[in-house]
Amino acid sequence: MHNTQQTLSDLHGRSYGYKVHDILNNHLSTPGKMIRPKLIQLFAQLFHIEQEKQYLISRSAELIHTASLIHDDVVDEADLRRGERTLHKKTSNSLAVLAGDFLLARVISELVAAGEFDILKTISEALEDIVEGEFLQDQLKKNGTNSKDELIEVSKKKTGALLAWCCSSVARISKAPEEIVQKCHLFGEKIGVAFQMIDDNLDFSETSGKDQNKDLKDGLINFTTLNLLKNYPELFYIVHQMRGTTCESIPWSETQIKTAQDETKNEVDIILHETKKLFSEIAESQTTSNENIINSTLQVFAFIDQMKERSK
Ligand code: FPP
Ligand code: MG
Repeated sequence: MHNTQQTLSDLHGRSYGYKVHDILNNHLSTPGKMIRPKLIQLFAQLFHIEQEKQYLISRSAELIHTASLIHDDVVDEADLRRGERTLHKKTSNSLAVLAGDFLLARVISELVAAGEFDILKTISEALEDIVEGEFLQDQLKKNGTNSKDELIEVSKKKTGALLAWCCSSVARISKAPEEIVQKCHLFGEKIGVAFQMIDDNLDFSETSGKDQNKDLKDGLINFTTLNLLKNYPELFYIVHQMRGTTCESIPWSETQIKTAQDETKNEVDIILHETKKLFSEIAESQTTSNENIINSTLQVFAFIDQMKERSK
């Protein structure tokens, strides 16, 4: 895992000297939470895939994740990410978009060089889903209203698709039966939706390292705002008026937003409980030693519990 990050911040390639390498090497030195490599490592342990393949999947996932965030910050016009100025703020929109494109190109060339065409095919499909998720979200912002089902659909695609790919590609490489591959996909997708809900909750906290109430100001009624409006319909008009503005004033009380956040947390708990059940089914289907099954299950459950902690 450490390796993935180390090598991520060293993108030298065929074309030395171009500014894109400087920009990216600098940018990649701020590590993220490495959730995708962690999950891949946990699945690789259960499915017994070799270190080299695990590393290739992890690196591809992190490069795509990084590219998507660089592009996302341009789309969302975000000033901050991980408490730091976003890449487009440090450079320009065009250089940030190009830097993201470079990372995508790098994933393709590395997978082709490794002869991993199946991985390339499935990661391309995940990429299509991510982009579709962003398109759907853009539509929702323009529509002016959105339902919970629509938000879940967006989250499955924009956040769940890559996590689903991380888990399912480990199973696929190990030549697990298709039914198990699909369960791994569903596991990752659910983790993605839970993750998005937690992220939406954190949108209302001062410690997120991002701009506060960003979704709302961007025009999106996210999971937490949906709960807020369901519980306090009297806030509907004023909250809707905040959409698409740079308004900093907060029309809800601490208790009102906390109630909405608690409700989102409960929804996260339900989804994470389902992921534990799914993982147990996946683990039990393996013909590995009981000890390996128990160890993997304990570690994945600990990973899930850590996610829960983050939502508190
Ligand atoms: C974060 O959502 C954004 C994503 C998970 C996906 C963004 C994808 C694109 C912009 C499409 C381009 C894709 C690639 C791979 C180049 P968020 O805005 O809710 O989260 P945030 O609060 O962390 O910004
Ligand atoms: Mg964003």
